[in-house]
Amino acid sequence: MIIRKDNIFLLQTKNCSYFMQVLPSGHIEHIHYGMSILSERQYEELLKNGNTEILADMAKVLEIKHKNEGGNMVVYAPEYYPMCLEVMPLEMSGFGKGDIREPMVELTFKDGSTTCDFLFENAVISDEITALETLPSSYDDKDKGAVADLQSGATVPAYMADHAMQLVITLKEKSKDVRLKMIYKVYPDCNTITRSSKLINDSKEDVRIDRLLSNQLDFQQTGFKLTSFHGRWADEMGETSSVCNAGKVVNEELAAGESGSRSNPFTMLSMPDTTETAGDCFGFNLVYSGNHYSALSSNGTFLSRFVSGIQPTGFEWLLNPGESFEAPEAVMTYSKKGFGGMSRSMHDFVRKHIVRGEWRDKERPILINNWEATYFNFNQSSLLRIAKEASKAGVELFVLDDGWFGARNDDHAGLGDWVVNTKKLPDGLKGLAEKINALGMKFGLWVEPEMVNENSDLFRKHPEWAVRIPGRDHSVGRTQMILDMSRKEVQDYIIDALSKVFGSANISYIKWDMNRIFSDRFSLELPAERMKEFQHRYYIGLYRVMKTLTTNFPHILFEGCSAGGNRFDLGILSYFPQIWASDDTDAVCRMDIQRGYSYGYPVNTQGAHVSAVPNHQTLHTVPLETRFSVAAFGCFGYELNLGELADEQKKQVADQVEFYKQWRKVFQFGDFYRLDKYRFMVVSKDKSAAVALIFQKESRPNNDYLALKTMGLADDKVYEVANRQVGVNIKAFGSLINTMAPIHVKQDGIIHGIIARHYKMNGEKDEAIATGSMLNGCGVRLNPDYGGTGYGEDTRMFRTNDARLYVFAEVTE
Ligand code: GLA
Repeated sequence: MIIRKDNIFLLQTKNCSYFMQVLPSGHIEHIHYGMSILSERQYEELLKNGNTEILADMAKVLEIKHKNEGGNMVVYAPEYYPMCLEVMPLEMSGFGKGDIREPMVELTFKDGSTTCDFLFENAVISDEITALETLPSSYDDKDKGAVADLQSGATVPAYMADHAMQLVITLKEKSKDVRLKMIYKVYPDCNTITRSSKLINDSKEDVRIDRLLSNQLDFQQTGFKLTSFHGRWADEMGETSSVCNAGKVVNEELAAGESGSRSNPFTMLSMPDTTETAGDCFGFNLVYSGNHYSALSSNGTFLSRFVSGIQPTGFEWLLNPGESFEAPEAVMTYSKKGFGGMSRSMHDFVRKHIVRGEWRDKERPILINNWEATYFNFNQSSLLRIAKEASKAGVELFVLDDGWFGARNDDHAGLGDWVVNTKKLPDGLKGLAEKINALGMKFGLWVEPEMVNENSDLFRKHPEWAVRIPGRDHSVGRTQMILDMSRKEVQDYIIDALSKVFGSANISYIKWDMNRIFSDRFSLELPAERMKEFQHRYYIGLYRVMKTLTTNFPHILFEGCSAGGNRFDLGILSYFPQIWASDDTDAVCRMDIQRGYSYGYPVNTQGAHVSAVPNHQTLHTVPLETRFSVAAFGCFGYELNLGELADEQKKQVADQVEFYKQWRKVFQFGDFYRLDKYRFMVVSKDKSAAVALIFQKESRPNNDYLALKTMGLADDKVYEVANRQVGVNIKAFGSLINTMAPIHVKQDGIIHGIIARHYKMNGEKDEAIATGSMLNGCGVRLNPDYGGTGYGEDTRMFRTNDARLYVFAEVTE
């Protein structure tokens, strides 16, 4: 809901309010963002009767009481004495009129001056959510909004019936004909508000944009904690926090040219005592895939400012008369229910208002990818052997990864030549796809369209398409160069080449990779004074290509990838419903990586696979059940040679596939809870079913007091709880076999092997029937872990790195 009373604006969602007013000077005072300032009754009344009187009273209470000139501060103008912009909480700040904090906008005018002073011109509220023209942005699908998630017959609370709305405030620079549109979208059902900005040059002179951020939020308090997520290749999303009492804390991708594994654009603000379940928590993100910048600064006394948008370092944009420039959309979610509450709202927002197309609400297929099984060394027969084994296990989609095209026998050649290598695949993609389809599976393919190898036909023909500076050495990454996506002819070439590939066979899935970061940024098409536009123009071009291909091939499920999670962001998710989360497939590392993603991204956006042991990235051996349990909290698949598994493990895989299919909807569309660092849970929207994961970080003997305490179950529903039973190989007990065996058994000897083949232990069974309130309040007591003495059907074999899934099904009769 968006309500206006004269020059006061309230943006209201289910649990939060965003409140601002136009000051007599024309600046916009930011009054409040956070906990709802309306009671539920007031919200309902406002929805019904739209009586806006209440807004003026609330503004009186909350507006800043600024009556002093304040020593050496700059007074804005005599007619507004004693207003000093430095102490005003503002919706946007320019440069040069006394607000000496971090600006949202920096411009340079023709005469070299940099002062800009944007003042209110008008505001338009509408029920229609409009899209940005050059960049992806959130949308509202009225038919499939929140109401559709409710069980039929349930009374719809007012906020659920409330629909998305948009507010556009236009500001005009006081003495120049330059306008700034600030666009707000309100999604009441998921407590999310987005902001973006657009600069329009209506003057007759060029204006240079030195920065145009998307978001500025002023808080009348300091001491927020900024949490951001950092890492590197195969080690993404490490959580890091800094409290900002004064000065500045920054989360940025400075020059990689991608949203980045070094620093994901998703950021949180909380109070130091905010917990998983209680306390203020703000979640922020950008619908953007390039270099980003978010900063929390504080004047050390009573004001904090959070800004975010395109990274200003290395960026400039020349705006000729009549031109406009759009900044990416910034996303804000607030919860007073801690990190967990914020995450669930953010997940709903991403699932309903960012991800789009046919696959948005569809269950994602279980896939098998050949990369870690074969790398570049495959042919049609070896692929089909893997596919046959996978189809026997019930896997639904076979994905052919890198190496199927051109002279691509290793990572030194072939990128750019999107023509099938018939030496490896004599029947072409069409023939292979038909054979895979005949096995009852869909067929998918890997591409890396933004890249070119020096050793490729494309580079030999179009060296000018590669990003490099003429006359200077250029640096490569993974021996490849980046194609200049800022050029229309390059975009068109990629659209054309890929359309041919996508149309050449029955292709149901595409993995779109991007395996190096940027260096030597330059475009032959840009004049010197526009060279700093290159990086942003690259993304405008890339988004055009992605939009065209996803529109033209609506049935294909696209998965983004960038050397794993190097470009895991809402820009990519606006076109591709899921992204390969990391090249690290070690389940233990993945617990941390997927937990990191879970703060800002839903389970069904994160690609996660079961791979071989010892793991190819860490050489770590983790049980198959753990690899499965962790990958099940993602878009699930396998990435190993299933044919080479022992028969017992093949059966286990088939059993996992069957289990996953049964619970897939809950995993992919349920509400996600972090029960603790190593326990996750998903609960279906109607709360009739749930799955929890317990991961054993380190086992200790003598564990008698274990419980699984849940979150999110309905207090008044009754649930049947059961663990996923996992057979135990007697060999796991090592020489302890001799405490039972009538003869001495040599550990790992022939007799040990024979006993293990014939004597199977089923693994413990934990079963209970209990109400949601009991399970949420106390939990279900679990059988003890094996802890130095005693083992049997009631003992949970739970070694370091073991994991167990527990399912909860509502008992209806
Ligand atoms: C990247 C991806 C991998 C795989 C390889 C292929 O590293 O992240 O999953 O596709 O490229 O070269």
